[in-house]
Amino acid sequence: MESGLRLEIEAVLRDRMGRECLLTPSGRVALWLALRTWLSPGARLLLSPCTDDVVLFVVLAAGLRPVMAPLSPCDGNIDPFAIPEATWKRVDGVLTTNLYGMPDRVVELRARCERDGLVLIEDVAHAIETEVGGRPIGAFGAAAAVSLSKHVAAPGGGALVFADAGRRPDLERLLGEVTTPRTPGRRAADVLSPAAERLVRALGLFRPARWAWRSLGLVERAEGNRMPLRAPLLREAVAHAPDLVRFDPWVRFDLHGYRMALTGPQLSGILARLRRLDGDRARRVEGVLRLRELPGTAAPAREGPPRPLLRVPLLVEDRDGVQAELRRRLVTTTHVFDPPLDDYATAEFVDPSSSPEAARWWGSHVLPVDPLDAGRVLRALGGMGTPPRPARPPSGTGP
Ligand SMILES: Cc1ncc(COP(=O)(O)O)c(C=O)c1O
Repeated sequence: MESGLRLEIEAVLRDRMGRECLLTPSGRVALWLALRTWLSPGARLLLSPCTDDVVLFVVLAAGLRPVMAPLSPCDGNIDPFAIPEATWKRVDGVLTTNLYGMPDRVVELRARCERDGLVLIEDVAHAIETEVGGRPIGAFGAAAAVSLSKHVAAPGGGALVFADAGRRPDLERLLGEVTTPRTPGRRAADVLSPAAERLVRALGLFRPARWAWRSLGLVERAEGNRMPLRAPLLREAVAHAPDLVRFDPWVRFDLHGYRMALTGPQLSGILARLRRLDGDRARRVEGVLRLRELPGTAAPAREGPPRPLLRVPLLVEDRDGVQAELRRRLVTTTHVFDPPLDDYATAEFVDPSSSPEAARWWGSHVLPVDPLDAGRVLRALGGMGTPPRPARPPSGTGP
């Protein structure tokens, strides 16, 4: 039954993306497969410093050296026109982010990669419903990593999308090497966590539940937006890369079953949700239309036809204060990628950006809000004594 479901999921994804797809236990495993297959250990990979820290650790686990790209203050994605020639000459590949569903400048990046013989890998975790010129994001590079726990809202799962179908046997072998059976403890957590969440919701016990989860140490990002770096341990892991298992302490953050095989019921759930993605698109667009009226909405979310974004980025002064105030009103904001990875991981583990200002500005001002929760967000913001003030872009980099 499970292999039939797997094939059906891959067929749905193949129809969407127009490319070969391999189902994986998570988006991060798909990304690791892409980096291990299309790049060699020691290669340098250009990526955004304002992405998930898990992505950084996957890049390190693949034995690659991360090189931080200059960003556009307009959307927090790589600014291809700000990348110095010296940086282009140093890198072997580029990884896009498609932050919150806003597309990278993928046409320009692909043209440059083709010209210089670089590998383009796409991170589609936030952008499974995003297109550029009528073509889905994920169908531009050599390979792309999809996450099924974002728009698809599954409790896990991912997929590798790739152009060269001949690579499939090697990819399946590599996937088999890192995948483990789902442990009984994880299976129990798979069932109990959503049940506990439903109970909390039904009884309206958000505050005591939040206190209890924090007291029990079950909130992973309780101390800020980035996970603890643990530099001495990381130094040792980097010395032994490529090796995904050795990077478990970092890569499993927020998703402890990230390389455990999906169960039959999980696969059925993913398939059903994937088939409902068009409905999700309509709900997201509706939320984006409501939120884009807020002062401070980033230009790509505010202008043009609305996209079905994962998050609508607001750019506000005193972001941490606004985030805390929203939390008091029981609106949690996730996917805040601050500080930028070069400030977080230091030059020991990454090549810092040649111009870090836009990334620092974006990272410290962005407040990503969920368009599916637009009503609650608007009520919470409306209830604040002083409404959030839109952030002013750094001089010389205005969006
Ligand atoms: C930008 C980005 N890429 C990749 C991932 C990894 O996806 P997954 O959680 O499915 O492993 C995430 C997870 O949040 C992400 O935010």
